[in-house]
Amino acid sequence: MNARVNPIKRSYLLLEDWFNVSFGSGWNPLYHLGTLTFFFFWVVLVSGIYLFVFFDTSTAGAYASVEYLTHEQWYIGGVMRSLHRYASDAAVITILLHMFREFALDRYRGIRWFSWFTGVPTLWFVITLGITGYWLVWDELGLYVAIYSAQLMDTLPVVSGSMARDFLSGQLTDRLFTLMAFLHLLGQPVLLVIALWIHVKRLSHVEVTAPRGLAIGSLLALLVLSLLAPATSHGPADLDKVPMVLNLDWFYLNIYPLLDKWTAGQVWMLTTGVTLLLMILPWLPPKKTGPAAEVHLDQCNGCGQCAQDCPFDAITVQARSDGARWPSEVVVNPDQCAACGICVGSCHSSNPFRRSQKTLETGIDMPQYPIDEIRNRVDTALAQLAGNTKIMVFGCNNAVDVAALQTPDTAVLSLFCAGMLPPTLVEYALKQGTDGVLITGCRSGDCYYRYGNIWLDQRFSGLRKPILRQRAERDRIRVFRAAVTDAARLDRELVAFRETVAALDSAREAPNAQA
Ligand code: HEM
Repeated sequence: MNARVNPIKRSYLLLEDWFNVSFGSGWNPLYHLGTLTFFFFWVVLVSGIYLFVFFDTSTAGAYASVEYLTHEQWYIGGVMRSLHRYASDAAVITILLHMFREFALDRYRGIRWFSWFTGVPTLWFVITLGITGYWLVWDELGLYVAIYSAQLMDTLPVVSGSMARDFLSGQLTDRLFTLMAFLHLLGQPVLLVIALWIHVKRLSHVEVTAPRGLAIGSLLALLVLSLLAPATSHGPADLDKVPMVLNLDWFYLNIYPLLDKWTAGQVWMLTTGVTLLLMILPWLPPKKTGPAAEVHLDQCNGCGQCAQDCPFDAITVQARSDGARWPSEVVVNPDQCAACGICVGSCHSSNPFRRSQKTLETGIDMPQYPIDEIRNRVDTALAQLAGNTKIMVFGCNNAVDVAALQTPDTAVLSLFCAGMLPPTLVEYALKQGTDGVLITGCRSGDCYYRYGNIWLDQRFSGLRKPILRQRAERDRIRVFRAAVTDAARLDRELVAFRETVAALDSAREAPNAQA
């Protein structure tokens, strides 16, 4: 299932592992790139509001007002300016990493096409927001940005082709500057918020708040940078002087130097081409998602737990349609279903102890891997187990391949996601004669289906339904997360777990022997 791991994914997982060692999985910044970006946006917003209070929105006064903030008020205005710049740069870094991560871990195709597709223009919204920001300083760099942007605009059919000329002659300077101020201070931020809302629209339980420690650490790092290397301006903009040597911000202004070598048309072709290529990436090649989850109304009481747990917002609760005594039922939107099976783990009817039916049926099931087949496979695997300490391992198709762990005293079963595992199935395996149950899956904080790991933990600790009942022998249940690159660790964990279980067996047998 996951025998061949592509080298990009392997390298990225190793990098994440290295960060796990340094930060722990809870604070690993590579697991929080989206929320960190939101955090940097907050820093940009707060510092931006401060700057706006002192900023003069005219070509005549802009430069002097920024200089005042930078030098006269260096202890607060200067720091705010630097925070504004460095948090913007940091946001580009986290966005690019976030993008790369989704790509490297194959989280951009299939039903995730929507988040990817809408993410690409979002990146451009951020970059153009930075460009108008540099324009507003109205120093030599601002003038450079203005002239080169006018050149780019000139090639667009909607512009008459004379923007750069009019601009240099001073005719357009003030009007454009006012427009840029409006765009930067209001228009673009509003567009960005709308774009981000669309970007995460097809996901549920979207985290937008970075872990506190990570946020505080990032803010401190930005503050230190702001004090050590405060953001400054170039000389004032002068329309009679062509700006020469400039310190470009490569995060935002990287396409401008191309205009020294290429025509504006060529630069447009490159940027449009790269953008379109990125946008169609989810279909190069497309990812096949298995059949969507199916609701079995005769087993569903409409409790809605599966709808609450679905990470992709694919399940909704609606009024009952079959005349049964419950008021609600759930409905699956197949276009949004990732076929992760988490809903099967959420359904209290996915209970293998129910022997009243010949075929085990549950309220919501995966047609390609129904709960009845899972129970049958567990039965078969357990019947074949031999040895003194028998272990049942439940794995997930997106983490380490558990097939290699199979031995006469170890049975294995891989699910679509660790979150697909109903807690009662763990109890069932223990009741049916296994001595211990080891559950593995994607690393903590890194579930391929976003919430499988978290829901499993919450069900096991009694915080989320269906819970692992008190009577389940917790000493004989272990959860150990292992990505595809962590096979050796899982091997060691299995050995250690078997020893623990063997010790429990010995302890249990000792009093019996004395008696
Ligand atoms: C502009 C700034 C961006 C922000 C603040 C942002 C933020 C987020 C957040 C918070 C999530 C939800 C993560 C989760 O809860 O699992 C997300 C998901 C996603 N983002 Fe972005 N994003 C941005 C840009 C991008 C870009 C440029 C791309 C790629 C072109 C992208 C691709 C994705 C994908 C594919 C997902 C779905 C991940 C999944 O289903 O597990 N994002 N983003």
